[in-house]
Amino acid sequence: METISSFMDKDHALIEKLWNGFVDSHEGEDSHKEHFDKFYKNFTRHLSLEENFLFPRLDKYLGMKGEPSITVLAKQDHEGLLKLINLMQKNVNLDNHKKVLFYQKNFTKALKKHLKREIEMHYSICDAFILKEEWQEMLKKQRKK
Ligand SMILES: [Fe+2]
Ligand SMILES: [Fe+2]
Repeated sequence: METISSFMDKDHALIEKLWNGFVDSHEGEDSHKEHFDKFYKNFTRHLSLEENFLFPRLDKYLGMKGEPSITVLAKQDHEGLLKLINLMQKNVNLDNHKKVLFYQKNFTKALKKHLKREIEMHYSICDAFILKEEWQEMLKKQRKK
């Protein structure tokens, strides 16, 4: 079975690829909104996997519950990223290209910073303390969504 760290590395690569696919697509083309929707779906799925499964376990394992930890910072990033992506979604649907472009630039920067932060979180430690069965169960649940 695939390890958590290799799954997360691949998922980050997928998110970057989908984001670049959207950025490189052109407004007015049919595929523009499709690119956005595909990114949005995968991005929010990824965030929910981190916030609902990985971060609580990391906090518990690292004994940092209730203290500012790396997961607290990552969650703060998520909040900002979600605000931006939801504003983008609204404007993509309204064909408001000027605003889309503005938020897009900010999101690109924020996403890059966030992914760098998460590389430093070393998901590889999750491979050591999260049971394979528990992870497999989690992936199954997510696939059903
Ligand atoms: Fe992530
Ligand atoms: Fe994240």
